[in-house]
Amino acid sequence: MGDTTIGSLRRVADVPERLFGSFVEHLGRCVYGGIYEPGHPSADEDGFREDVLDLVRELGVTCVRYPGGNFVSNYNWEDGTGPREQRPVRRDLAWHQTETNEIGIDDFHRWSLKAGTEIMLAVNMGTRGLKAALDELEYVNGAPGTELADRRVANGIPEPMDVRMWCIGNEMDGPWQVGHMTPDEYADAVEKTAHAMKLAESGLELVACGSSSAHMPTFGTWERTVLTRAYQYLDFVSAHAYYFDHGHKTRSREQMQEFLAAAEDMTTFIDTVAACADKAREANHGDRDIALSFDEWGVWYSDAWNEQEAAWKAAAGEGLHHEPWPKAPHLLEDVYSAADAVVEGSLMITLLKHCDRVRSASRAQLVNVIAPIMAEPNGPAWRQTTFYPFAEAAHHAKGDAYAPQIDSPLIHTEAYGDVKAVDAVVTWDGESREGLVLIVNRDASHAHDVSIDLSSLPGVAGEASEAKAEGEIGGACVKVTHAEILHDDDIYRTNTAAEPDAVTPQPLDMTANG
Ligand code: AHR
Repeated sequence: MGDTTIGSLRRVADVPERLFGSFVEHLGRCVYGGIYEPGHPSADEDGFREDVLDLVRELGVTCVRYPGGNFVSNYNWEDGTGPREQRPVRRDLAWHQTETNEIGIDDFHRWSLKAGTEIMLAVNMGTRGLKAALDELEYVNGAPGTELADRRVANGIPEPMDVRMWCIGNEMDGPWQVGHMTPDEYADAVEKTAHAMKLAESGLELVACGSSSAHMPTFGTWERTVLTRAYQYLDFVSAHAYYFDHGHKTRSREQMQEFLAAAEDMTTFIDTVAACADKAREANHGDRDIALSFDEWGVWYSDAWNEQEAAWKAAAGEGLHHEPWPKAPHLLEDVYSAADAVVEGSLMITLLKHCDRVRSASRAQLVNVIAPIMAEPNGPAWRQTTFYPFAEAAHHAKGDAYAPQIDSPLIHTEAYGDVKAVDAVVTWDGESREGLVLIVNRDASHAHDVSIDLSSLPGVAGEASEAKAEGEIGGACVKVTHAEILHDDDIYRTNTAAEPDAVTPQPLDMTANG
């Protein structure tokens, strides 16, 4: 018996496929030099890197949000359509880069077919709005026979793309967002846009912007205002959260401890937004829940970005026209440690434990930019430490999610008080009778021994005799086919292009007993 026990499972909900989504933004080298690099040895006939496509499939991504992010709020979707040589080159105000428009929705649709992923499209509510959203919808999903749908056909895509999930803007509460709005302004805009989009296609699934983080001054008020006003047209509200080790330069144990417990913040975030959505339903006498789309989550060393932005501004000097507008610059290329992978695993566990309300999620982002996959210019692609917890869940978390009762020693954090050292989730597919147990040790100082009792899974207990020869966990009929651990004695160890397999999952010794 270890010092931690995991058992007594409570069913949460079926695991939605879209929980394993990701995010591709026109930002730095996510698109250009990430998914697309014509001239790369692995580039296919469309210029897409096949080595990256292979890793995307290996990661198990189901749905990809596109094209932003902050980028979308000053983007003209039409710029990325039609013959490439005629597409305009523009300045992107969000990331201060030059956008060549070599890739647009048509190209991304082709990429998605190759990657085997659904697309979730975001529309520009910053410099544009309702009209541009309706035009884009007609272009993307329209049956041939109308002007914009026929333009798509002429551009080589005869069939409607059938994009179901649409985000109405991005982080419109954030003062950094081009065209940002007050809660009332956005509530008005989203209500009208969602109404019109559903007139065009009633089967769409529409996502309103929620707060950019749980620490925004309007957090809560924003959700209540927006969801109450537009309740009848909305299916999802977005949530975004990034975490980083504030002490990664000083390496203090206390700061690391707090970072490892970051999922506590995500839990509060989810509970608060779900409560706001419930209030909006009640106010509208509705009978349907607005779900959460956690469409940006992950570890992001955002202080590094803030320093970079400040350095640019200083370097730009006083003169007009001297600011840099680089093409596909190296931006937000965080290299993740073993500790970062623990946090991402813990965030994934949190999403699964709340999948009754979180019905879609996108880990931000996919390639090069705060990403699990890195692609060297004209060189190899490799997996970051954070690749592994995502891939494990995406491939094996099927059927229903169960939140276990966990008895574990407590660890103290400044931000969240005393929290359990160990967190876990269980999934179980009753049909295939296959399951997954994801466990994370959030204790920065100690290892913990864990005992797992799966006897409360439906159809598992009571068949123990059949499984004797295979080995049992907690007296139930379960055979362990595969057990792995992601660990490094140096919690700051990373993978790199030169040493891509420094931190990888290793076989885990498990004792099965009756
Ligand atoms: O993912 C990076 C950025 O983070 C996105 O563009 C924005 O939506 C968020 O602030």
